[in-house]
Amino acid sequence: MSDSARSPFEVVGLEQLRRRNSVKWRTYPEDVLPLWVAEMDTALAAPIAEVLRESVETGDTGYAFDGGFGEAFAGFAADRYGWNLTTAPILVADVMAGVHAALEAATERGDRVVISTPVYTPFYSAIEQIGRVVVASPLTDSDEGQRIDLDRLERDFVTASAYLMCNPHNPTGHVLTESELTAIAELATRHGVTVISDEIHAPLMMPGHRHIPFAALDSDAARASFTLAAASKAWNLAGLKAALLIPGPTAPVSGLSSELWAAAGLFGVIAGTTAFQEAVPWLDEVVAAVDHNRHLLADLVADRLPGVRYRPSEATYLAWLDFRDTGLGDDPAAAILEYGRVAVNSGLSFGVEAAGRVRMNIATSPAMITEAVDRIASVLERS
Ligand SMILES: Cc1ncc(COP(=O)(O)O)c(C=O)c1O
Repeated sequence: MSDSARSPFEVVGLEQLRRRNSVKWRTYPEDVLPLWVAEMDTALAAPIAEVLRESVETGDTGYAFDGGFGEAFAGFAADRYGWNLTTAPILVADVMAGVHAALEAATERGDRVVISTPVYTPFYSAIEQIGRVVVASPLTDSDEGQRIDLDRLERDFVTASAYLMCNPHNPTGHVLTESELTAIAELATRHGVTVISDEIHAPLMMPGHRHIPFAALDSDAARASFTLAAASKAWNLAGLKAALLIPGPTAPVSGLSSELWAAAGLFGVIAGTTAFQEAVPWLDEVVAAVDHNRHLLADLVADRLPGVRYRPSEATYLAWLDFRDTGLGDDPAAAILEYGRVAVNSGLSFGVEAAGRVRMNIATSPAMITEAVDRIASVLERS
């Protein structure tokens, strides 16, 4: 952005950030720059802060009630993605709770569930915890970055019951294209695989990219799919606990509990509803600031980190960095933490295919990113 002083990532100073109680800021000692878990170093969007303040002042702190959260998302999805929902979203505590519920409804114990690895770490445990079997379908390296290998996916679908998809993909930041999604839908239809599409990062599209909801495709697999949506990543509301599970019109919903809403937080519902309805201009400022940061990081990597490869993500505020041509081995994040005092996520935590890579959270100030790169440069110099 042209006026970097107005970046949403420069509103809260480092001293205030260090006083935060969230996992991002409390896990590591003070000398560590925390650029790991997907929280943002922003203040709340003003309309969200206001509505939460009002709830505190009036003691509106009872059980969650979906008083228009689903409709608010439907309005946002129609405006932003051109997706007209045909079914009512179901309130759940968070996206992973919705993933659990969808997996339980769509599969039986012992069934095989495909994931495109490396992928968001809790996908593995979500499948295993309920007695299903993880089928890791590795992404393949291409000139554009790591992409879905459709031949491999087809082989893996033959014996699978469900595909837990991440779009946009975490950690690679890839936005699945219409042709990729159409191919996945054809394979899923052919092999009777239920698609569960985690679209939590979808509001965070970088310029030039467009989110296509899987459920919006004209396909039997799309109509039978489950979608997960939330305001928690894009408006930084993860601790408030509310997300939406959206079954397609022919999704296998009979196994879904009618009590899913009970674990959601009322503040999450109130904040999320306000986000989708009133805080889209704020989201656009965040997207512009992330866009600025990903180009800043690209310049810094080119100047300061020899051997490191970085292709700015197409979506999300997560940068996916390839250290395989440096001397830092399979787990560069360990050396970066120990010697550089910067906390990034180890690629290995997302899958064995991500040895030598790290994920860096760039939803922070340009100064923090610059300092982190300086520190990482000093780690590379000593290796
Ligand atoms: C792809 C993906 N899904 C789910 C989550 C977690 O969402 P929730 O806290 O709503 O369960 C994250 C968090 O970063 C994520 O990146």
